[in-house]
Amino acid sequence: MMDSSKTENINEVCCINGLLIYKTFAENWDNIEAFQARADDIVIVTYPKSGTTWISEIVDMIYKDGNVEKCKEDMIFNRVPFLECKKEDILDGVRQLKNMASPRIVKTHLPVEYLPVSFWKEDCKMIYLCRNPKDVAVSYYYFQLMTPVHPKYASFLEFVEKFMDGEVPYCSWYKHVKSWWEKSKSNPRVLFLFYEDLQEDIRKEIIKLINFLGKKPSEELVEKIVHHTSFEEMKNNPSTNYTALPEEYMNHKVSPFMRKGCVGDWKNHFTVALNERFDVHYEQEMKGSTLKFKTTL
Ligand SMILES: *[C@@H]1O[C@H](CO)[C@@H](O)[C@H](O)[C@H]1NC(C)=O
Repeated sequence: MMDSSKTENINEVCCINGLLIYKTFAENWDNIEAFQARADDIVIVTYPKSGTTWISEIVDMIYKDGNVEKCKEDMIFNRVPFLECKKEDILDGVRQLKNMASPRIVKTHLPVEYLPVSFWKEDCKMIYLCRNPKDVAVSYYYFQLMTPVHPKYASFLEFVEKFMDGEVPYCSWYKHVKSWWEKSKSNPRVLFLFYEDLQEDIRKEIIKLINFLGKKPSEELVEKIVHHTSFEEMKNNPSTNYTALPEEYMNHKVSPFMRKGCVGDWKNHFTVALNERFDVHYEQEMKGSTLKFKTTL
């Protein structure tokens, strides 16, 4: 029984032009590639499990001038459509975005070389948020448990092996962060942020975002955003905690989408041996890059 479910699930992920991604997304690739950006789009880019929903809610709050009620009127996956997502009719990023009034906030997990070219042609502003790989791996492990679309792994250890080899949806974390980091250094329209900095000093990062989006960071606006986007608020907010999706997409009984939202949970999951191996591999993968992460605060 385990074997057949494994085979069935593996078929839900496939490779398109070298990118490992969910099959329903890959089948829609022509539409994703041909996506027409608008000059006033703002693009939120992350590797999965790096604080995407958190930054999306912050940016939407900025756009809505801190109006919490307005933000709660619709689900985060409708306010900030997920570009390459295609799950039946509920989630269809390309279609959702086409029908959306400007200015749009676009979410994507695509590696830099897979982003539709129109975003570069239109010179869109982009926000890249990254998170240290040990916490990403832990978060991704729990996420794949609660989303039936993922292939199943025998253990956390097996999942981390795949993660290190880049054999998980969206491929190598190392390549993803390095290439977006390089892009941000040559393109001032790309703002590069760290999840750990958001945890350490949320006000500072919110002010940075407000300025980047060309608005005025009043104290009132900043405080409203700080409060509304705290982990507890977002976990209990039905428009951000993803409980509105059908259970076949996400099963919160297995593991909630909003799980812990902290820095350093990897210490509860990595053995000493795994940590040593991970560090050696990390050094190889990140050799020559100036990108540095905090794994604790
Ligand atoms: C999501 O929010 C609703 C409404 O506040 C709450 O009842 C529910 O427990 C939350 N779900 C999770 C999994 O956090």
